Amino acid sequence: MIAARILIVEDDRIVARDIQHQLSRMGHVVVGMSASGEDAVRMACSQQPDLVLMDIRLEGEMDGIEAARRIRNAHRIPIVFLTAYANDEVVHRASLTEPFGYLLKPFEEPQMRTVIQMALYKHASDTRLRLSERRYAATLASIRDGVILCNRDGRVDFMNRAAETMTGWTAAEATGQPLSVVFVVVDEETQQPLEDFSAVVLRSGDFAPPERQARLLPRCGDADALPAGIVVEERCSAIIDDRGDFVGSILVFRDLTQRRRIAEALRTAQADLAHIGRLTMMGELAAAVAHEVNQPLMAIVTNAGTCLQHLSQPQPDLDKTRMVVERIVRDAQRAGDVVRSIRALARRTPVDPGWVDISALTADTLELVRAELRRARITVEADLQAGPPWVHGDRVQLQQLVLNLVMNAIEAMSADDLPERRLRIVTGSDDGWLRVRVEDSGPGIVETDIDAIFRALYTTKPDGLGMGLSISRSIVELHGGRLTAAPGASGGSVFEFVLPVSPGGK
Ligand SMILES: Nc1ncnc2c1ncn2[C@@H]1O[C@H](COP(=O)(O)OP(=O)(O)OP(=O)(O)O)[C@@H](O)[C@H]1O
Ligand SMILES: [Mg+2]
Repeated sequence: MIAARILIVEDDRIVARDIQHQLSRMGHVVVGMSASGEDAVRMACSQQPDLVLMDIRLEGEMDGIEAARRIRNAHRIPIVFLTAYANDEVVHRASLTEPFGYLLKPFEEPQMRTVIQMALYKHASDTRLRLSERRYAATLASIRDGVILCNRDGRVDFMNRAAETMTGWTAAEATGQPLSVVFVVVDEETQQPLEDFSAVVLRSGDFAPPERQARLLPRCGDADALPAGIVVEERCSAIIDDRGDFVGSILVFRDLTQRRRIAEALRTAQADLAHIGRLTMMGELAAAVAHEVNQPLMAIVTNAGTCLQHLSQPQPDLDKTRMVVERIVRDAQRAGDVVRSIRALARRTPVDPGWVDISALTADTLELVRAELRRARITVEADLQAGPPWVHGDRVQLQQLVLNLVMNAIEAMSADDLPERRLRIVTGSDDGWLRVRVEDSGPGIVETDIDAIFRALYTTKPDGLGMGLSISRSIVELHGGRLTAAPGASGGSVFEFVLPVSPGGK
């Protein structure tokens, strides 16, 4: 049982006392007793009871029905009427105040107990309902989606603030209007009028159809609105009562203009980024081609010079000249191969994979730079492991790799004041890896951040492109290996790469 604080309004003092005793026995607290309507309104205000037991006929001007009306309006306190007579007119007037019950005098205690309990329960559930309605109202007012509720005839019952802004109607103006008048939509492409969504739901019997996009036209005569209106995404669901009957629908819609603008900006940004990426890659590719073709080109120019010298002799030695021309042809072919291999590198696929004998390839490479080594007065120590294992990879790319490391070593030792100029190349294998070390006795690496020298375009040389090591690392990684740099044990630097030896390889 709910114990309540109750106000008794009864002009018959004996009856009032009697009720007071009964209520106390039931466990309720009587917070006041009044004999007139005016007094009852005052006491309800000051005492804020949970319930008022109200006689209809009272002393003074104001009867119980009027007093009840005022108390309900001001404080929403539940009222139970007590009356000795109940003609239709009185009952009708009393019912307008939404009473929570009637007790016909004379009444017994059990009867009163039941009516009071019912009134208190009903009031508690009314309060909960009102609270939940307020919650919904606050939610609907604060969301950015437009919400319109329609009754079973497709007329507007309610709309939230967002819906007011998007349609140009106020909720007060729209209430009772057909949805098709308030919410005028056309097909985005064809501009053909669309049937209002609540009518579609009702007609099709599909009570939660998929959302659709449409153009919401501005309210007629709305001078501020854009003539084209806004693009919205709308969803509509039927509202079904306990018996399964259609009692209305709810339309929820959202302005897509902003979202589309953001998506558009994102697309543009992505396209810009891809373009920049392509430009950077093209720049790097151009630099790579320039870098790798430079060496054979220089060799061709030198050999062509030698050739001309031979030919300008009174008795040219044709055998020697042929040998030099053959070297020119070989270098020109190599330049062509290099260009092809760089294109493959940019696509990140080995161009012509096969079994490669790294030691033999290293010896060939040293042969290619013989002239440079001689010019720089560099002694070469080559400790090359003969025979297998071989690596599976692209021959031209692997030769570029060794050549880049050797060229860097030669360039590092080109200064005049070096006490010693020694290039040591060691090849060997262990644990399934093939290892190649290129050591020089140059000044060593100046950069403290060792990874910086592997970045494209990083160079400390006046004529350097800064591409050699970046290309070399790409080649090694493409073959599943690692390229590292370290200071040498007695000065200079050491570059080492390892490549996996495939099991089952030669
Ligand atoms: N053996 C080495 N000894 C000392 N420093 C080196 C050595 N090899 C490379 N470096 C440093 O690393 C930098 C980058 O080398 P990388 O081969 O990438 O470019 P580069 O030789 O400067 O120019 P290029 O693109 O013409 O080869 C060099 O500028 C140099 O500072
Ligand atoms: Mg280099």
